[in-house]
Amino acid sequence: RESIIFDTDPGVDDAQAIAIALAHPDIELLGLTTTFGNVEVETATQNALLLSELADQRIPVAQGAAVPLVKTKYPAPAHIHGANGLGDIELPRVQGRALETSAAQFIVDTIDARPNEVSLVAVGPLGNLAAALQLDPTIVKRVKRVVVMGGSIKEGGNVTPVSEANMFNDPHAASRVLTAGWPLTLVGLDATHRCVLSPKDMEAIAKGQGRLGEVLAGSYGFYSDFYREFLGIDGCCPHDSCALAFLMKPELFTTATGHLSVITNGDAEGQTLFAPKDRPFIDERWSRNPEVDVCLGADGKGIVQWIVDTLK
Ligand code: BDR
Ligand code: CA
Repeated sequence: RESIIFDTDPGVDDAQAIAIALAHPDIELLGLTTTFGNVEVETATQNALLLSELADQRIPVAQGAAVPLVKTKYPAPAHIHGANGLGDIELPRVQGRALETSAAQFIVDTIDARPNEVSLVAVGPLGNLAAALQLDPTIVKRVKRVVVMGGSIKEGGNVTPVSEANMFNDPHAASRVLTAGWPLTLVGLDATHRCVLSPKDMEAIAKGQGRLGEVLAGSYGFYSDFYREFLGIDGCCPHDSCALAFLMKPELFTTATGHLSVITNGDAEGQTLFAPKDRPFIDERWSRNPEVDVCLGADGKGIVQWIVDTLK
């Protein structure tokens, strides 16, 4: 069983991943921490509250980063996730409220309360994890695992030719988090682009998820319009669900161990560079950061099957 904090910017694919975290019998969802990214952070918080309420659960929600650590915020991509983050469908009213505690403090307190038992799964820009590290650097020794959806090793980017969105939106935070020296796996586009969730898959999911299913299916329609127009794909990539799939079913992924760096400025800002462990480079700078694991590929069909089986 995995006890997790899910750090998120919901977001259509975030919403689906949240549904998985709420539904999976072997996941204990300790809290949702929110960040800007697909939407402004206030909207992310409202969506996080709403999604857990629609599943008849009241998961603690702690609001976090509103802007990147250093760079100027890039506008939220309303044409991908909708201005409300959930495909601009009409949404029910939110009943509950977020905690007074900040996302970063919530992360530190939760890890303190249960040392070596809590995993962090982060699927948005990484400001909250960076802030938690700043509040208490010793969490690196007491977290169980960190799984980050973001980056790209060989696949190329989705915001620029080399940068994936979560890295691009806050490269300085990403750099701190990916080099903090904790047990971390990066699940990037090399894995998530192997997965396509078809309209038929979505139909099966919607049927199994009641009121939450209506929001998942409605927002999926909007999100897949973007995939059809921009990428010529019938369906969409369930990026953020892949981070949970990795946590629960690592055998569906191929990984490598090595050193990660994030480019923080210039034309390649947000690019992730990976130097494999056993491969020396003439310029040694890229091999100095602490070792982490990265996903280089995945069994896309197997992952989509796992998502559908969890939610149907
Ligand atoms: C990531 O960017 C966001 O748009 C998605 O929610 C996902 O976390 C994919 O690059
Ligand atoms: Ca996300």
